[in-house]
Amino acid sequence: MSDSSRRTFVQATAGIAALSQFPRPALAAFGGKASVDIPKERMSALTRWPRYGPEEKQALHALIEENTYYNALPKFEQEWQAYTKSPFVKAHMNGSSALTSMYFALNLPPGSEIMVPSYTFFSTCLAMRFFGCVPTFIDIHPKTACFDLDDAKKKLTPRTKAVVAMHSWGLPCEMDKIASWCKEKGLILLEDSCHAHGASMQGKMMGTWGVMGAYSFQASKLMPSVEGGVGMYQTREYYERAAAFGHYEDPVKFPKNSPVRAYEGTGFGMKLRMHPFAAAVARVQLSRLDEKNAQAISNLRKLNDRLSALAGLSEPLVRSDQKRVYYHANMLFLDEKKAGFQRGQLVKALQAEGVRATIWDYPEQHKLKIYSEAKWWHHPPVIPAAMPGNAQVNATHIFLPLLHGPADDVIDQYVQAFEKVWARKSEVSKL
Ligand SMILES: Cc1ncc(COP(=O)(O)O)c(C=O)c1O
Repeated sequence: MSDSSRRTFVQATAGIAALSQFPRPALAAFGGKASVDIPKERMSALTRWPRYGPEEKQALHALIEENTYYNALPKFEQEWQAYTKSPFVKAHMNGSSALTSMYFALNLPPGSEIMVPSYTFFSTCLAMRFFGCVPTFIDIHPKTACFDLDDAKKKLTPRTKAVVAMHSWGLPCEMDKIASWCKEKGLILLEDSCHAHGASMQGKMMGTWGVMGAYSFQASKLMPSVEGGVGMYQTREYYERAAAFGHYEDPVKFPKNSPVRAYEGTGFGMKLRMHPFAAAVARVQLSRLDEKNAQAISNLRKLNDRLSALAGLSEPLVRSDQKRVYYHANMLFLDEKKAGFQRGQLVKALQAEGVRATIWDYPEQHKLKIYSEAKWWHHPPVIPAAMPGNAQVNATHIFLPLLHGPADDVIDQYVQAFEKVWARKSEVSKL
């Protein structure tokens, strides 16, 4: 037998041996039939976001017809206040302006340090800059992607005055533990709840654990008004100060003894009013928020309850007293050792099967140039040498789409795709 025919023979018999060992269908990545054959249009309809319909159109038409634009704002504020059981709320132009006015309301001496996650959107960390405050970057827990209190305890300085918890992807931070530590240390607790519309812990909505909390209604968010935001306040003092910043017509409505009443007509130089069209859309979205969350969660549970049987695949940890929601996607963690292949190989295999699996690393704030340049800050922020929690979450997650409608067929096919990939791990590890 010549060398080349021997090679062909060996390859063929190895192939037969492999086939008899694995009577399952071949991976799509190696030419097999893809597990998922849901038409593109149906997947687009199930994953489309924002989800607007006749009610949003009707609300916008009514506003135009009635010519009562700004009335939409107090109506929205009252409804949000009732939904979240907040003592005070103020609609803002977006989540970033709600955060900016929150930092203004704090009224801290320049040089005060505020603990923030580095795994977040820029305005959580940067908006404090305008008022002379400096971020202290706190890691996230690798199994929740939320605020790591143990890391915070190590980073406390005499200048630390406040703590911002951000509820990543709709999972509440451990607010009871964070709140009691803040109380013990005399720190002000704040919340960036921009991912967590509808989430609560021990029956308390996110954004009401801290003395102030901010939400965003930007287009990708769980309650989208395309742009929009809201601030929530536990005290009249914080509310009035935050509302006076960017809302020039508010101070006159405050009691005579309000410290900001004299600043009527100034907004302290800012104008951050929410657009009334956005408020009209937000009202409709709020009326359907719980229903939409429930639909997405029901689909996600059906899927994850089956996927979590696979070696090395897990969900972020949720405590039994936390009611989480899901912003953006269904985030799962892969333990490569237990699974027997790498994350990149898994994503390739799943995508070939027709699963919309993706990876998206949150840009870590502490690595951005602006924090390492002293000229932007009262004093230079400390840039941590390592953030193992951030690194682990960014290195181990995969995202699956949220499904916003009846989707049992998609779920079944996704499960088949995952099971097929797990059954052929030695092949996946060659991708
Ligand atoms: C965690 C977090 N904080 C703050 C914001 C800011 O919200 P907005 O985009 O409405 O300014 C966002 C939204 O992108 C966010 O994801």
